[in-house]
Amino acid sequence: MKNGGNIADEIKSRCNIVDVVGRLVQLKKTGANHTGLCPFHNEKTPSFTVSEDRQRFVCYGCGASGDVIEFVKRTQNLSFLEAAEKLAEEYGIEWAPAAFDTDGRKAAYYEANREAATFFYHAFRRLGNPALPYMARRGVDDATLRAFGVGYADGEWDSLCRALSEKGVDEKLALSLGLCAVSGERRYDRFRNRVMFPIINTRGKIIGFGGRALGDDGPKYLNSPDSRIYHKKDSLYALNVTSQEIRKADRAILVEGYMDVISLYRHGVRNVTASLGTALTQGQAAMLKRYTDNVVMAYDADEAGRAAAMRGMDVLREAGCAVKALRMEGAKDPDEYIKANGRERFMGLLDEALPYMDYRIGVERDRHDISSTEGSLAFLKAVAGILRKASPVEAEIYIKKVSSETRISEGAIRAELSGAGAPGGRQAPAWTPPGREARAGGQSRAASAGAPAGSMPERNFIRLLLSDSGYLPRIMEYERVFVTPALFRIYSAIAGMCADGSEPDMRRLADSLDEECLAALADIRENVHLAGSDEDVFDGCVRALRLKELSERENEIILLLTVANEEDGPERIRELTQELLGIQREAKGVKGR
Ligand code: CTP
Ligand code: MN
Repeated sequence: MKNGGNIADEIKSRCNIVDVVGRLVQLKKTGANHTGLCPFHNEKTPSFTVSEDRQRFVCYGCGASGDVIEFVKRTQNLSFLEAAEKLAEEYGIEWAPAAFDTDGRKAAYYEANREAATFFYHAFRRLGNPALPYMARRGVDDATLRAFGVGYADGEWDSLCRALSEKGVDEKLALSLGLCAVSGERRYDRFRNRVMFPIINTRGKIIGFGGRALGDDGPKYLNSPDSRIYHKKDSLYALNVTSQEIRKADRAILVEGYMDVISLYRHGVRNVTASLGTALTQGQAAMLKRYTDNVVMAYDADEAGRAAAMRGMDVLREAGCAVKALRMEGAKDPDEYIKANGRERFMGLLDEALPYMDYRIGVERDRHDISSTEGSLAFLKAVAGILRKASPVEAEIYIKKVSSETRISEGAIRAELSGAGAPGGRQAPAWTPPGREARAGGQSRAASAGAPAGSMPERNFIRLLLSDSGYLPRIMEYERVFVTPALFRIYSAIAGMCADGSEPDMRRLADSLDEECLAALADIRENVHLAGSDEDVFDGCVRALRLKELSERENEIILLLTVANEEDGPERIRELTQELLGIQREAKGVKGR
């Protein structure tokens, strides 16, 4: 079991013992603990207790006790390593050789960070340093500064390096923690002239730092790189201070930055944590879920923040959390908001936080100009994309809600939801004769009110085939035009019959068709009169098809562009814009002919 220590820590911090035990033992929450019938001895009244805080179980009946690995080991009859491996696999924890470090080695990393934090802390307390008045100016009181261990990195280039070597901290180690850096022969402090926020895990270990610039040098925030003890994607800021508050409130407020946490905390809102940066990961969601299932996103009020909030909400929902989101007005982040408006108003915002669906749909509405057709369509697609992930009942509620708040009909939303845009669903949407309003769900037009089945080019192509089967090879090239099922069946029947160049035999054709097709066929023979020469008609159909395809792609690109902003780089946006211009040019040409 050599080197098992680190991975064991990792497992213990990522696999919530309540969940793991809960799969086997029916647990009931009693106060701070969970209790159930002991799996290790026979009993009728529960004396088996699981502490979520301590991540340990103990049975007051038989004396069995241990952590999550011990539990799996004993209930499944495995060795320690096997149990650890099993949990690691179930929770997607990488069982990398690097994780098999000696405990002592990892302890040295924690120790180095602790030395650095102490150094920064003392520097912060020294008179005359600029960080103290800076934080005071930002309204943070002394108790809060102490609670978060806020420090100061001076601007001297090597004061931390020297302090660390005096304490006997290994140079390479300080480098790999991102405390020091090298340039040629010279070692220097990576954090300079910054307010330092130590990132501390729930076990009280300092795993990294964030440093906010006091001057204009470098990025506004400089963070520790990932290291043997810091994995940004699995860390949340301030949980060492706030995890119990989160558990007590049974709700976490998730913010973007260090200052948001500190500022809310200072104003008495303490069930708060930060994802540090923007993209919330599954690991962070799982960690949060150890303390509560209820999360309120309070990311920055700008577009980047909103986009990040939406992605974060998806991640949290996947993790099984109930999520809401704040909408702040007149402030760019929670720090600014609570400073300007006070605790009560912020609490009011919390009460008004929007449920997941409302927030997402609201954001899409803000993004699109729904007074324009393209805007409405893009909005419709976005809404459908959101509702597709909802339960049917939930979807139904929001279909009604969206429809009543916009000009978009319930039918259009339903059609989009079940049809065109769905991955793997039917791609061809309802045909829209050029110049007429788009009408989603039109495919079923044939069935309703005796309106003719099919689009102009579909009907004309069939009429053309009936009068001159010589068009078959050329029409076959465009057979994608047939999106109305009955007309496609008629076309296929004619194509089968005329493949050898013969003219269609109407009686044989009629024999091979079902009732719906026969009605459609009769309707075409009666009502479709080819205007102009056969060649003009054929050409008109091809142009109409092309126009339809261009407009579909146009709408798609418009939709893509609204997404591209945050997902892709400027390169992709340029590409799409180019294509859009090309399409609009071509469409103009096709119409003009
Ligand atoms: N961040 C970062 N690097 C940056 C900018 C931001 O890591 N260059 C992270 C930090 O965790 C920061 C958070 O993203 O706290 C939010 O960024 P921002 O809104 O710019 O920071 P604020 O907390 O508002 O910073 P301040 O109020 O100090 O200006
Ligand atoms: Mn800010």
